[in-house]
Amino acid sequence: MSSLLTFVISGNELEEVERIGAALSDSRRARVLATSHQPGQAHADIRRFHPSAAIIILGSASEAGLDLLRELASEFPETMLIAASRDASPDLILNSIRAGAREFLRLPVVAQDLAAAIERTEQFAERQAVAPKKRGRVVAVFSNKGGCGVSFTAANVALALDAPTALVDLNLQGGDLGFFLHLEPKFSIASLVENWERVDDRMLESLLTPHSPKLDLLSAPSDVDAAVGVRAEHISGTLDLLRERYEYVVLDMGHTFDEITLTALDCADEILLVMTLDLLTVRNVQRVLSTFDGLDYPRQKIRLVVNRWSEKDSEIKRPQVERIFANREIDFIPSDYKTVVATINLGQPIVKSKPSSPVSAALRRIAGSIAGIPEKKTGTRKTDELKVTAHREEDLVADEQTNGHSNGHSNGHSNGHSNGHGHAFELSTAKTWKSQFLSLFRPN
Ligand SMILES: Nc1ncnc2c1ncn2[C@@H]1O[C@H](COP(=O)(O)OP(=O)(O)OP(=O)(O)O)[C@@H](O)[C@H]1O
Ligand SMILES: [Mg+2]
Repeated sequence: MSSLLTFVISGNELEEVERIGAALSDSRRARVLATSHQPGQAHADIRRFHPSAAIIILGSASEAGLDLLRELASEFPETMLIAASRDASPDLILNSIRAGAREFLRLPVVAQDLAAAIERTEQFAERQAVAPKKRGRVVAVFSNKGGCGVSFTAANVALALDAPTALVDLNLQGGDLGFFLHLEPKFSIASLVENWERVDDRMLESLLTPHSPKLDLLSAPSDVDAAVGVRAEHISGTLDLLRERYEYVVLDMGHTFDEITLTALDCADEILLVMTLDLLTVRNVQRVLSTFDGLDYPRQKIRLVVNRWSEKDSEIKRPQVERIFANREIDFIPSDYKTVVATINLGQPIVKSKPSSPVSAALRRIAGSIAGIPEKKTGTRKTDELKVTAHREEDLVADEQTNGHSNGHSNGHSNGHSNGHGHAFELSTAKTWKSQFLSLFRPN
């Protein structure tokens, strides 16, 4: 096999960097993607170019070079590290191997050694190719309105997935998941960020709090000030690491569209958009869906979850919801305040402590849909009822036209629908929105 191998070279001895670069360029199997003379640049180059190998020149201050190797080895396990130095003493060779290098090049470089290093890089790259990284699914549970049941849904769906799952509390200014799961986490996402340069799989493991054999929690910081240092790149980096370790990463999200939330939503494979059936929330959900359209999220990425649903008491009835959110996947979690609150207060998630309740059945079916497990036909009507396949969106347009509510908005609507990105009410002012909305309650 002779695929092209890519390299970055780093070291503060300019001449050596260039000499190795030139020698590698002579090989038809190798291409140099970047050279740098600043130690800190190696991280950025590897992150950017994902090379097959990085050659790190250990200067006279070899300790600093060894530290750099250690950092790179933990951050980029998929990149082969090659240490290079004029000092080829057994001590330095051994220390560089211990620090994470897989090969040692004596300087000034000779063709034969370089050919051997290329050979080893090729073997390493082949092993990487046959052992592709695990990539777990990220499921973001979100609502842009507080109190709809995001944390409740996230915690229970994470458990109901019944597979290796990390639950991440992204309510950085005050997360509740420790309470929901009856845990007192010692560490949080802020601890992860404080140790960012040194984070590896082992450290990650130590910062998560185990809940049950298949569920671990990455908690929100208990101290609000500690959350200040958490930035968007930490979120995407953390999710990347968690994906490698877990089959699912479930996110309990904050309610504002800030940088952290947007990054997490972007990274997510699936979004559970949680809502309750009151006018204000439904209107908010319409806006969120418009925002998601603006972000070019595919429709299938979003699943609507109506929580605290009650046939009798919900302000908006199920047929109306089905019509409003035409063509969308919608799940219904029934309302059962007494049982839900009792399980939350005890820190015993309902799917485990009250598995036979209709609320648990609904949560399990959401988990089943995420996992791609078809629902068992149990014949229990209540369970079967909990999911709806919504009416076609065109029906809604037809209804609106029949009801004569296309005045002044018909262009906006038809445009929206024809390009597949519109929502029934997205172009309406609050007033007309309400009148359109209420028209759905009129008998046809
Ligand atoms: N299916 C349900 N039936 C009845 N009550 C429920 C249900 N789901 C949630 N609740 C109630 O709603 C409350 C809020 O739930 P939760 O804390 O999960 O919402 P949230 O969206 O995470 O809110 P926050 O804005 O605090 O993050 C719960 O404490 C519980 O009392
Ligand atoms: Mg919450």
